[in-house]
Parts: sequence; structure tokens; C-alpha cells
Amino acid sequence: MPSVVDGIDLRRVPGHVAIVMDGNGRWAERRGLKRTDGHAAGEEALFDTVEGALELGLSWLTVFAFSTENWRRPLDEVRFLMRFNESLLLRRRDEMHQRQVRVRFLGRRGGRVPGRLRRRIEETEELTRRNRRMTLSFAFNYGGRAEIVDAVRALAAEAADGKLDPERIDDKVLARRLYAPDMPDPDLVIRTSGEYRLSNFLLWESAYSELVFTDVLWPDFRRDDLFDAVRRYQGRRRRFGGLDA
Ligand code: IPE
Ligand code: IPE
Ligand code: MG
Repeated sequence: MPSVVDGIDLRRVPGHVAIVMDGNGRWAERRGLKRTDGHAAGEEALFDTVEGALELGLSWLTVFAFSTENWRRPLDEVRFLMRFNESLLLRRRDEMHQRQVRVRFLGRRGGRVPGRLRRRIEETEELTRRNRRMTLSFAFNYGGRAEIVDAVRALAAEAADGKLDPERIDDKVLARRLYAPDMPDPDLVIRTSGEYRLSNFLLWESAYSELVFTDVLWPDFRRDDLFDAVRRYQGRRRRFGGLDA
């Protein structure tokens, strides 16, 4: 196997890449289309990116699909996104399973998430549970603050039951109550569409992530854009608060 592909050192790829898939609405508006057409066009971007991630041998890919704040959007758009994600799971899950991708969801599963979508999520997770080539996590009804709040609630309940001494709470103990305790922190966070913010994505986990921003609108994003971001990542020096070795 070659160790360098397209200028990327395959021995030093980020273990976990997380992406804020942003810009669907603007992509559609520029074409005189409906915002929801932009969401639909994002599907090809996502699955080409998944193929690129598999080519690079990434172990974890996490994508922000719907935030806890996205419920503020017009009801039509919210309804479209619920139905669209449900149909996307039905249409794509066998293909993901064949590629040995484990599909998981990060977020609050209750609340306004329709029961039908919740069942598709559970079925997809169950179908792909044993796959180990790559884990593709959909952050859906996900908020970084909500995730930390949920972890704090779990800790408070354990402390109230006398199962946990509050003095023992540290970052590792809290991290074990996050939605996916086995998920490593993202090495690289990519955001598309020229916005320079995290918008409540993986707040705890991205403490030391490298951030790459691109003007590409999500529906135009392809594996080559992922490769660009990984090359930029490989040019960075990570210090984690220490000094260069
Ligand atoms: C990202 O695209 C998808 C979701 C948030 C669901 P947007 O819908 O935010 O597109 P813009 O940012 O309005 O262009
Ligand atoms: C973040 O994008 C959420 C997703 C990509 C799902 P938004 O479009 O919701 O973020 P803001 O509102 O521009 O910060
Ligand atoms: Mg947006």
C-alpha cells in the first residue's frame, strides 16, 4: 500500500474528522431553488465524502445534520428534514452496511423527533452495530450544550443516589457520560459555507481539535475537499498546551 496519496501521508491521517455540513440553503437560493432542494443536494456531498473517508482509512467521521436550535426554522423545512433523513436512512443503510460502516446517532432521541425516524435510527444502528471499518455518526437533534447538560444530569442523579462522590468528578468521569463515551475527540473539525463558528457542535470534544474552514457550500463538497482539509491538518502543529517536542 502506498503511504502517500494525493499529498496526504496515510500514516498520519486524523483518526476522527467531524464536519458541520453548512450552506445548503444558500446553495439553493443561488440557483433559484427552494432551500429544501439544497438539503436534498447535500446527500451526494455526504456520500462522496464518506467514500473519500474510507479511501483515506479514517476510523471516525461525524457529521452535523440537525442541531437542537434548528427546530427554530419554519415548520415546512423542519418537516422536510425529518422526512428526508428518514428516507436517506432507508435508501442508504444497506450500502453503508456493505461497506462495513457502523452508523450511529448522537443527540437527544426524544422530544420532537418523529417516532418513525426514531425507529429507522434504531434499526440502522442495530443493522450496522458490528461493523468496524469506520464509524459514521450523525449528530441529529444534537447540541453541545445539551450533551453536557445531559451528562451533568446523569452525574447529579448518581451523586444523589450515593453512587458517586462529587469529589471524584473530573473531565474523564464527565466524558464517560457524554452520548458516545467510546468516541475519540475529533482531531479535525471542518465547517463549510464560509462561516467561522462551531454553532454548538461537539463543544466538549473539540477543545483541542484543529479547525478548517472552507467557503465551499455543503452541496458542492466532494472527497477532494476532504482531502484538502486533511492536507491542511497535516501542516498543523498540535501542542495540547505543552511545548513542541
Ligand atoms: C445546513 O445548511 C443544513 C442544516 C442546518 C440542516 P443550512 O440550511 O444551514 O444552509 P444555509 O446556512 O442557510 O445556507
Ligand atoms: C449548524 O448550522 C447546524 C448544522 C449544520 C446541522 P446552522 O446553519 O444551523 O448554524 P448557524 O445558525 O449558521 O450558526
Ligand atoms: Mg446554515
